[in-house]
Amino acid sequence: MDNTIKLRSRGSPLLPGERYAPPSVFFHWAIALLIVIAYAAVIIKGYLPRGSAQRAMSLTIHEWTALGVLVLAVPRLLLRMIKGAPAALPGQAWWVRAGSSGAHLLLYLFMFAQPVLGYLTLNAQGHTLTVPGLDIALPQFIGKDEQTSRSIKDIHETIGNAFYWVIGFHALAALWHHYFRRDDTLRRML
Ligand code: HEM
Ligand code: HEM
Repeated sequence: MDNTIKLRSRGSPLLPGERYAPPSVFFHWAIALLIVIAYAAVIIKGYLPRGSAQRAMSLTIHEWTALGVLVLAVPRLLLRMIKGAPAALPGQAWWVRAGSSGAHLLLYLFMFAQPVLGYLTLNAQGHTLTVPGLDIALPQFIGKDEQTSRSIKDIHETIGNAFYWVIGFHALAALWHHYFRRDDTLRRML
């Protein structure tokens, strides 16, 4: 039986019900790319001189790409709730299914919570985000308060650091499925 799964998965095209639909694939990879850029920008910022224009630019890139995550996460979640996901692949142990469902749930929470916390940090610091070139200021949801800004920023940074591990685990799991288990898990998200 294991052989059948392996033969089936090495080359034969996937049926529509066995793979994620193209809009879900688009949202998955667009959001993954924005998250990588947001992380890279905030890491690079740490190496740039305080008060420099480049440092400010890195933070701006961080803020806008990460807000893009939130904007795309909304239609992505709606699509997920309306259309669902393809059925679990055959031959996956219960702990693999439980681990992947848990990781996916955490990643969905992250896509909403992390940008909101980042945005509220800015609000509490008294900074306003202005749409580049349009001079339109985004709304303030909370007022300026140093203590609040420090607390939210701490949570934002802690979650940001913790999710290197969750995202890393998720990406490595996909590669493990593809190269070691040789199943269709990665192919159905391509
Ligand atoms: C996917 C979403 C996001 C991720 C993964 C993320 C990740 C991070 C990380 C890892 C840090 C800590 C950097 C360090 O330790 O020095 C950070 C800091 C920060 N983030 Fe985000 N962030 C996201 C969304 C946002 C958004 C939407 C905003 C604002 C619009 C924002 C504003 C900030 C600010 C102001 C800081 C503090 C920078 C500083 O002054 O040192 N973040 N973020
Ligand atoms: C290189 C990085 C990544 C790889 C290789 C990857 C791969 C995959 C694969 C193969 C699936 C399908 C899993 C299955 O069918 O059981 C998947 C699903 C998923 N991925 Fe990723 N992913 C990556 C990055 C990310 C990032 C950065 C996020 C968001 C923070 C993310 C969030 C999700 C979510 C929420 C699902 C579940 C989709 C659903 O069922 O609605 N992924 N990923």
